[in-house]
Amino acid sequence: MSTATTPKGSVRMIDLPQVHDPRGDLTFVEGGNHLPFDIARVYYLYNVPVDSERGGHAHRDLEQVVFALSGSFRMKIDDGNTKSEYWLRDPRKGLYISRMVWREMDAFSQGAVCMVLASHRYDEADYFRDYESFLTHARA
Ligand code: TYD
Repeated sequence: MSTATTPKGSVRMIDLPQVHDPRGDLTFVEGGNHLPFDIARVYYLYNVPVDSERGGHAHRDLEQVVFALSGSFRMKIDDGNTKSEYWLRDPRKGLYISRMVWREMDAFSQGAVCMVLASHRYDEADYFRDYESFLTHARA
C-alpha cells in the first residue's frame, strides 16, 4: 500500500449509472471503473438511531465511497484545513473520500441505510481516531 501514489485530502461526488425500468431501477458499480480503486471491502450501517453520530475518524491510506442506499444522512468533512458538508440521499450518488480526511456522520433519517465501498480490508492501525493527531499529520 503506497501513500505516495494515493490522493490526499480530497472529496467529490461520484455519479453511478442508472438503468431505469418500470419494474424498478437498477444501479451498478465497478471497482476501478466508476471508482478510482478496486473494491476490497463493503460494509453497511443499518438500524441507525436518528440521533446517532458515527465516524469521528480519518484514515492513513484507505479510500472510500459512501452511499445512502435508503433514506438520508449528513457527512461532515474536514481535510485539516477546510470543512464542508454533504447530504447523501440518492443511491446513484456516492461521496468519494480519499485518505487523510476526517469525517463525521449524523442526521440519519428513520431507516437510513449507508453502504461504504472501501479500497482495503479493515485495519484498525489505518485509523486516526484522535482529531489533534489527525490535524498534525494532515498539515505536515
Ligand atoms: P467504525 O469504523 O468506527 O464505525 P463508524 O465510522 O461507522 O462509526 O467501526 C465501528 C466498529 O466496527 C469498530 O469496533 C471497528 C469495527 N469494524 C470492523 O470490524 N470492520 C469494518 O470493516 C468496519 C468498518 C468496522
